[in-house]
Formats: sequence, structure tokens, C-alpha cells
Amino acid sequence: MNLDGLWPWVRPLVFALDAEPAHEWTMRLIEAVGRYAGPVVDEPSPPGLEVRLGPLTLPNPVGLAAGLDKNGVGVEFWPTLGFGFVEVGTVTAHAQPGNPRPRLFRLPESRALVNRLGFNNRGSEAMAERLRALRHTGRWPRVPIGANVGKSKITPNEEAPRDYALSVRRLAGLVDWFTINVSSPNTVGLRSLQAADALARIVEAVLVEASGAPVFVKLAPDLTNEAIADAVGIAREGGITAIVATNTTIQRPGVDTTETGGLSGRPLWPLAKDRIGAVIEAADGLPVIGVGGIETATQISELIDLGCTAIQLYTSFIYEGPGLPRRLTTALAARRAEISRLGA
Ligand code: FNR
Repeated sequence: MNLDGLWPWVRPLVFALDAEPAHEWTMRLIEAVGRYAGPVVDEPSPPGLEVRLGPLTLPNPVGLAAGLDKNGVGVEFWPTLGFGFVEVGTVTAHAQPGNPRPRLFRLPESRALVNRLGFNNRGSEAMAERLRALRHTGRWPRVPIGANVGKSKITPNEEAPRDYALSVRRLAGLVDWFTINVSSPNTVGLRSLQAADALARIVEAVLVEASGAPVFVKLAPDLTNEAIADAVGIAREGGITAIVATNTTIQRPGVDTTETGGLSGRPLWPLAKDRIGAVIEAADGLPVIGVGGIETATQISELIDLGCTAIQLYTSFIYEGPGLPRRLTTALAARRAEISRLGA
């Protein structure tokens, strides 16, 4: 689908609204389009970009990161833009409103966002219903779709494994993988679940319910090398298929804002790249999905050279618009072709 030509006209209208209403209107539109549109046609990926991620085959390594489609309302839409895999959620066992508004802020000069949404979502039961209905229509896309699961706010950390596992049980058989999110800064105490004992219990509970689907763990960029090594070690021993690194940061590298929450986009890139490197080192061959401030094919190539299997993005998509995934995959394919021409 070529929405790219419209973007120069649509973007000023979208950006004239506050960030969260703009997001809500866009998601409503996407949900409506999905409901009334005909069969989906995934954007064909340029040849030569296919990657294996555990048991999954991605037509290209450019994925949509969690948080943009928290309820899975655009599952049939995102692949039409050229994404090679799509992570919906974070979804929680209980539907919840999230934190008080305002809670999502654009920093346009920095090409960044700050959010403290706090897992606002309709709950994993509603997501499962929606995905089941979509599968029945036969309009399920060909690219892998994963669900990112988090802990409900009302559930104490000691009961976290059961809360994660309940969402996974509801969604098992409907999605191609699960991502355990223990790294959002906007649910009090959530990131302490990255600690070895807590993480081990969650991984164990989730794997029991995943019906054989691969399970990933998503880590924060604010972890030390030691904490990364511990978490990755637990993930590996527990049977995790891949690590997603990173989530948003609570640090404020070079940005001028007093808003609390997670920072994403361009200022996150140096930190994310550094932490992704630490994760790759600790992962020792376990696949790593790089996320954090990615805007260009050059950055994607850097991460793949560093050892990432695939990447995901969110914030650059907000600023660059719907043509971004296709532009990135086209540029990646051209780079690959040039490298093999030079090598030949
Ligand atoms: C996010 N992100 C996120 N991650 C996650 O695992 N679950 C979530 O619900 C959300 N929600 C969310 C909301 C908003 C508004 C943003 C900007 C981000 C984090 C996201 O998936 C990604 O890890 C980071 O944003 C870093 O990538 P980018 O945005 O710099 O490409």
C-alpha cells in the first residue's frame, strides 16, 4: 500500500494534535480500515532480506516495535507497509486505563518521544478475541505476529508469573511468538522483574503456557553489564529464543525535558547501541533483536554487523511516516546487492 505520497499533507494535520489524541485517531482509522477492507496483501519484501529468527522466518529484518499497536487492532495493516514482523501489545491480563494524561510527549527537535502511558490496554482477553476473529476471516498476514505481554498494575510482583502466564494462555495458538516485557519504566517495580530470580519464575510460567511458540525477553537500556549478563543467562537457561534490546530509557541523554517516563527515538540510539552490544556479547549466539533510535538503513546494517538478527522501530515511524519500512528495506536490499557485486 503506498500511503507515502500522502504523508507530507497528512503529517502537519496529525502533528497539529497533541501526541496521544493523534495516536488514538490514527489507530481508530486503522482499525476501521481493517474491519471494512478486503483481503490483505502483505507488501512483498525485496529479495535477499529473509532472516531466520529461531523457528520463525522473517521476510525482512525490519519489525514494528511493541507499544504502537497495544491492542492488536492493526495486525492485518502493518505488513502492508513492508514490516517483516510485528509485535503487538504490551497487553496485560487485566484491561487497564494506564496513567493519568497527559502522558505522551513529542520532542520534535530531538526526533524523540517521552511516554509514561503505563500499559493502557483492553486486556489479553479482548486481544485474543480480536485475533481469533481475524484468523477466521482468512485475512491473517503472512509475516510473523508476536504478542508482548506485561504485568497488570493491580497484580503484585510476587504474583507476576501467574499474571504473565494468563495472558500467554489466552493468546497461545493465535500469535507466532511472545515477548516478556520486564523493561517498561512506567509500571512501578516492573523493571525489578529483570532480576535473576524473578525473571526465572516468569520465564518458566510463560513457557508452560506458550504451546511451543518461541518466547523472547525484552530488556531495558538502563541495565549494567552485570545485570544484562544475569538476565541473559536466566533467559538462555530458561529456554528463551531471543532477546529484544532495548526498551525506552529513564536517562535523558542530551534532551531538554522535565517530563518523566521513557525516552525513545534519536537520543536513545548511542545508549541503545552500546547496550545492544553488551547484550550480544552476553547472548553468546542467542538471537538478539536490536531496538532503540533506529532511523536509517545504515544504522540497521551497523546493528546486523554487530550481531543482531533483526531490528524493530517505533519513534522514527511516527516522524517519518508510513513509507519508512519500505524505504528501509529497499535501501537494505540495495546495500546487500552492492556488497555482493563488489564481492563477486
Ligand atoms: C513504547 N515502547 C513499548 N515497549 C514495550 O515493550 N511495550 C509497550 O507497551 C511500549 N509502549 C511504548 C509506547 C510509546 C509511546 C513508545 C514511544 C514506546 C518501547 C518501544 O517498543 C521501543 O522499545 C522503544 O521506543 C525504542 O525504540 P524507538 O522508539 O526508539 O525506535
